[in-house]
Amino acid sequence: MSSNPKPLAESEEEQQQLVTPWEVSAKQGGKIDYDKLIDQFGCQRLDQSLIDRVQRLTNRPPHVFLRRGVFFAHRDFNDILDAYERGDKFYLYTGRGPSSEALHLGHLVPFMFTKYLQDAFKVPLVIQLTDDEKCMWKNLSVEESQRLARENAKDIIACGFDISRTFIFSDFDFVGGAFYRNMVKVSKCVTCNKVVGIFGFTGEDHIGKYSFPPVQAVPSFPSSFPHLFSGKENLRCLIPCAIDQDPYFRMTRDVAPRIGYNKPSLIESTFFPALQGETGKMNASDPNSAIYVTDTATNIKNKINKYAFSGGQDTIENQRKFGANIEVDIPIKYLGFFLDDDAELEHISTEYGAGRMLTGEVKKRLIEVLTELVERHRRARAAVTDERIPLAISLGVKLLQVETLFAVATLRLGTLNQKDPHSEKVKRFLQLFRDGGRVLGVASDGETQ
Ligand code: TRP
Repeated sequence: MSSNPKPLAESEEEQQQLVTPWEVSAKQGGKIDYDKLIDQFGCQRLDQSLIDRVQRLTNRPPHVFLRRGVFFAHRDFNDILDAYERGDKFYLYTGRGPSSEALHLGHLVPFMFTKYLQDAFKVPLVIQLTDDEKCMWKNLSVEESQRLARENAKDIIACGFDISRTFIFSDFDFVGGAFYRNMVKVSKCVTCNKVVGIFGFTGEDHIGKYSFPPVQAVPSFPSSFPHLFSGKENLRCLIPCAIDQDPYFRMTRDVAPRIGYNKPSLIESTFFPALQGETGKMNASDPNSAIYVTDTATNIKNKINKYAFSGGQDTIENQRKFGANIEVDIPIKYLGFFLDDDAELEHISTEYGAGRMLTGEVKKRLIEVLTELVERHRRARAAVTDERIPLAISLGVKLLQVETLFAVATLRLGTLNQKDPHSEKVKRFLQLFRDGGRVLGVASDGETQ
């Protein structure tokens, strides 16, 4: 056996940058090296030609997250676009592990982007709330995880999805039937050695962890949702997610062809940086590391002024003389996510970098942008009350309504059997659905089935 020092040295280096669904840490407190991650994970870089293609196919400007490289990697996204170009639709799948009461801005990123994709391509969307995952990993009780799922669902709905094309479910409520049958098919294809290799589980980890990955895998297969996709088992799936979720879908893509299914495609984002600087994902246990959708205007102002890491110089004189290092500047990074106006961002970056603008001025602009975003979100969320729109997709969380939901979704997808005993009930709910849509400002495009 010959030893080769080079790969060894490389793997040592890789150990220092750790990205798993549960832990993200950069090498020696530095920045995450995303190029390296693409190589390590074996995904593809999302290049300009793909972005141009999205623009062409959807006839609208690419989302700011595409233009600014927030979504930067993919797996077989071009297959989705090829199919779409031929006239085949696809569906979107994303999710959230409900581990905290309130969402922060980083949590909103995949949902904002998914909303754009849904609007641009006019496709159905399924959203998985992995209350089971968080119950097992975060030591939350079953009841508490379910409660958090319900709360988070409201924030997700407030992002304004087309509720006539969206299905949200919690694992605790929904797993069963065709979904569970697919889980078993997947489970039979994955050995313990394999999950240890992918996820790093050890012999001390409880078996719940070993058994979870198939739960997150199977929403990638249309046959897991017969109420939505019956007769469309070949529909392709596109998953927008942060790149830390890649291990789940590497496993899924590995198994898919062995059980006769299409591999899902992915479009993957970088992590949203903490206020203190770009060294990894935000730390949910430090409320001052992030802006939450529940923060007041005063909170936002104080957090940004006090904690947002600045690349500006420490005195006005020095700032005028040397300018700011915008590479490490958090206000500039955040504006890159949420200030839509390319020309304004370009202007701010140039002026600030050259010292003609001061940190305080950049922060002030950021405070305006975020206060408006959070305020808009708060209004939308307030409209999602339990009685008013339990149906705003009813979260799949309330078991009582799940049946109705299925029917509504089915009706909207144009396959409702008119003899279905629920049909009258469904029509009534559909009306309520539309009212709900108006309350949320997300009423569908006027198309009726
Ligand atoms: N595991 C994810 C989390 O902890 C939740 C999730 C489930 C998800 N399915 C997904 C995220 C699909 C992105 C895409 O947040």
